[in-house]
Amino acid sequence: MKLVLQKESATPIHQQIYHQILNRIQTGALPDGEKMPSLRKLSTELKVNYLTVNKVYQRLEEEGHIEVFQGKGAFVKSKHKTKPFTEEEAEQEVFSTLLQRSQYLVNRSKYHYDFSKAVVSPGLLPSHFLAQQTKAILDENPMILTTYGPVEGDEELREEVSTYVEQQLGYQTSADNILITSGVQQGINIVANTFLTPTDTVAVESPCYGAAIDTFMNRGNAIVPIPIDEEGMRMDVLEEQCRTAPPKLVYVNPTFHNPTGGTMSEKRRKELLELAETYGFLIVEDDSFSEIYFDGVLPPKPIKYFDDAGHCIYLKGFSKTMAPGIRLGALIADDSLYESLYISKASMDVGSPLLNQKALLPFMRTKRMKDHLEKLRIALQIRRDITSEILDVYLSGNVRYTLPKGGLNLWVELPEGIDIDELRKRANERSISFLPGSACFVGDAPTPAIRLSFSTLSDRENTEGITHLAQLIASLV
Ligand SMILES: Cc1ncc(COP(=O)(O)O)c(C=O)c1O
Repeated sequence: MKLVLQKESATPIHQQIYHQILNRIQTGALPDGEKMPSLRKLSTELKVNYLTVNKVYQRLEEEGHIEVFQGKGAFVKSKHKTKPFTEEEAEQEVFSTLLQRSQYLVNRSKYHYDFSKAVVSPGLLPSHFLAQQTKAILDENPMILTTYGPVEGDEELREEVSTYVEQQLGYQTSADNILITSGVQQGINIVANTFLTPTDTVAVESPCYGAAIDTFMNRGNAIVPIPIDEEGMRMDVLEEQCRTAPPKLVYVNPTFHNPTGGTMSEKRRKELLELAETYGFLIVEDDSFSEIYFDGVLPPKPIKYFDDAGHCIYLKGFSKTMAPGIRLGALIADDSLYESLYISKASMDVGSPLLNQKALLPFMRTKRMKDHLEKLRIALQIRRDITSEILDVYLSGNVRYTLPKGGLNLWVELPEGIDIDELRKRANERSISFLPGSACFVGDAPTPAIRLSFSTLSDRENTEGITHLAQLIASLV
């Protein structure tokens, strides 16, 4: 069995082995009845202690994923009755094993009360206006479909984004430093492609946006989780890490953080930049949510705003405020980094779709956009308030959460001993879904937690669904 272990990773070796084997069982790569390698063989192959592998097998057996027969060995016990992989498939499987977390934890099934995805209800976004504009653009210039756009993005849109960033966030930049991406997710990938080799270390907030962890993990990078508190990523812990093994890159989602909804203080933003200067690492600032602030209180300025030395690569998302289907975002980097990022983007997709870029432009230019953001903040604030009120009514004293000051997510910590898988199963039976907190950690989740995205449903469905879920949790605690 070919497993990839990252000895420098903060995730203990036994957990890495466990997760990779479990992943194979759950995906059917190790089918029901398949004989597992002997402890001795696997420990020799992986160059790890016999007892480490033994510990993993014991856990798998306790959880019912394998069965051990005295004198015969261990055998897979799984729902998958598929035939074993061919040798070639097994070779390739080592890559799919790395595609974990969000993709595999977020259930693909459709649930009526879906709180698992950090997406905004399309009814709250300018769908009709964008559709009209798109039609008008196509009528006026059908060749837009048959023309390559510039790799760095449409010039008019880049100009507009620089105005937007200045007006919304107070950060002045030039269109020449803006690279249009296909969403923030692509921005994270471009940065990783450009600056990381598989031996590099990346530091992330713990918990962290799961798909960012996946991006770095899939490249083979060692990931160091840095805990967060009410002021965001703990700089004392990051500094300690830097003293021993400085990361090449630090990924943060500092404003209305996914999954916790928390915000990094201005002081920490500046400290992070100081550490970047001292230890020479890059910062990736994922700003997907900062326009969605509540109670009229603006969040601190972006890290990029304070970045005099050019350590920070800023990623602005439009999916949560305007149009996720259009798949656009913007990357802002100083000259020294920009050229390499541009080349990476070229090799990735030769530029984002031109029609989509032109379609977003008229919206960004109108006063309509400002009014829309105002309304969006109000609508989401109402949902946040309803969600927290319901949790208070049914679960007061039993769960812990901090009221987010913006964004789409509420992070709920449940009492020790609550089995999140069981809760998920029971919730799914009632057509309710949420994101298990474990999707947001590099290793195991320290405490049982769930992320509720209150932005996806209508007010009525949000109220109904949260009420059902809160009642269900109450029955379990
Ligand atoms: C923190 C964070 N970053 C990035 C993304 C991806 O956004 P985009 O649609 O801009 O690629 C998401 C989506 O949920 C997110 O929550």
